[in-house]
Amino acid sequence: MLFDRAAIHKRLEEIAAQITADYPEGELTVIAILTGSLMFMSDLLRRIPLPLKLGCLSVASYHGKTHTSGEVIFKHLAVPDVAGRDVLIVDDILDSGHTLAAVRKKLETAKPHSIRACVLLSKRKQRAQHVNADYIGFEIDDEFVVGYGLDFMERYRNLPYIGVLKKELMDQPNQ
Ligand code: IMP
Ligand code: MG
Repeated sequence: MLFDRAAIHKRLEEIAAQITADYPEGELTVIAILTGSLMFMSDLLRRIPLPLKLGCLSVASYHGKTHTSGEVIFKHLAVPDVAGRDVLIVDDILDSGHTLAAVRKKLETAKPHSIRACVLLSKRKQRAQHVNADYIGFEIDDEFVVGYGLDFMERYRNLPYIGVLKKELMDQPNQ
């Protein structure tokens, strides 16, 4: 286990306070990247007392494996109009950077006033794409983690904590 429920929630209070302070004008447009950011997004947004709109984007780059394919596929694109708005992208984890870079690029075409990104986790590693998050919950080593929204082959999302996936479970995901 890396971060238990209490540690996650304590950190969420801090990030939420920071985001709230950084947008004194309010009127945010939050774009959550499904599915991994669901728990993070809902716990975070309940701590941000700003007027905001919420949209979700569903992208995929993993295809059920533990290595990124580099190609980011947009499965669904129904986001609020972000033109002229302050946009905050919320994702579960920054790994290779492909996802965040692609989502940022896509949203930029709609000419928002600003774009920032908030991730629960960021892996310390050389990224394939030069992209940074403005708000980071925790920096972690380059290991495969699950729980609190994060999955391995769609499992473990409902764990209330974040943990490193055991090597033996990578080979036998039915355990
Ligand atoms: P990136 O495009 O390589 O930065 O990967 C981002 C996406 O890959 C995240 O939104 C996750 O869905 C998934 N991902 C990357 N690393 C992990 C991990 O350690 N556990 C679970 N999912 C991960
Ligand atoms: Mg994801």
